[in-house]
Amino acid sequence: MKTCWIIYNGSLINDKFLDQARLMAEACEQLNVQPTILKNYEIMMKLDEKLQNKPDFVIFLDKDILLATYLKNCGIPVFNDPEVIETCDNKAKQYIQLAKAHVPMPTTIIAPKVYPKFTIRDSGYFENVLHTLGLPMIIKEGHGSFGMNVYLIHTEEEFYEKVDALRGVDFVFQQFVASSRGRDIRVNIIGDEIIASMYRHSETDFRANITNGGHAEKIMLTDTQKEVAIQAAKAVGAEFAGVDLLFGPDEAPIVCEVNAAAHIRNLYNVTGINVGVAFVEYILKKIG
Ligand SMILES: Nc1ncnc2c1ncn2[C@@H]1O[C@H](COP(=O)(O)OP(=O)(O)OP(=O)(O)O)[C@@H](O)[C@H]1O
Ligand SMILES: [Mg+2]
Repeated sequence: MKTCWIIYNGSLINDKFLDQARLMAEACEQLNVQPTILKNYEIMMKLDEKLQNKPDFVIFLDKDILLATYLKNCGIPVFNDPEVIETCDNKAKQYIQLAKAHVPMPTTIIAPKVYPKFTIRDSGYFENVLHTLGLPMIIKEGHGSFGMNVYLIHTEEEFYEKVDALRGVDFVFQQFVASSRGRDIRVNIIGDEIIASMYRHSETDFRANITNGGHAEKIMLTDTQKEVAIQAAKAVGAEFAGVDLLFGPDEAPIVCEVNAAAHIRNLYNVTGINVGVAFVEYILKKIG
């Protein structure tokens, strides 16, 4: 019987992280794989000692990139690959990859690195951003989940306030796709196959995330939506991907982001599909 470690972040107290791990564990059991759910701090990364009782593979549901890299270097296949987790964990880095692969996405400008105690207010960079994207626009921090670090900026005052507050942080400026206000599509992809998807919408917020009060329902994807979602997952190298698609003015799909540790509970509730099953099947096929 093959064995698997399912790793999530033990410092996060919200139940949904453990719940996510349990869904993956159920998928393992269905496929005759013995799962062990571990908090990231339950593995001692003592670099001069050999890691004991290694599993056949690791499902990595966290963003502890150092741990993911450590496990990979111990010779364990880690899914997603630590490099993919790192790319997706930083939205700025991710958009650079998506643009390189010509994935349709909102016009995006990366913010230059500014050290926290300094300012580049006189450089003209921000005026240029305002001039290029106009208002309202989106400011999005590199790191963030559940829509928490995504801001809709309406005024120049708000814009400069946010830019000042984000000194020392990776972030991007982005065109606000108004035709997609409060709605998006989450597509879950394993390998290069679409396993499940849902339409998310919110009547109260520009963000469609369910955590922000959005609702979700089943959706049949168009061929273009399918193609674009798969193209996005490929562009960042994600074998397990939650791709968020926005609706362009003509309803054409525009990639909002790719999540490398996408939560699968809501998708399961909406579609009845445990994406974990397809994920574990994919891994078993790959590792042989
Ligand atoms: N450029 C944009 N134009 C219009 N709406 C956007 C744009 N970017 C993001 N949104 C909305 O805000 C929501 C949150 O943005 P995004 O998915 O980038 O970050 P996140 O939700 O914090 O990440 P995660 O999906 O990991 O929780 C999206 O689902 C979408 O509804
Ligand atoms: Mg998102």
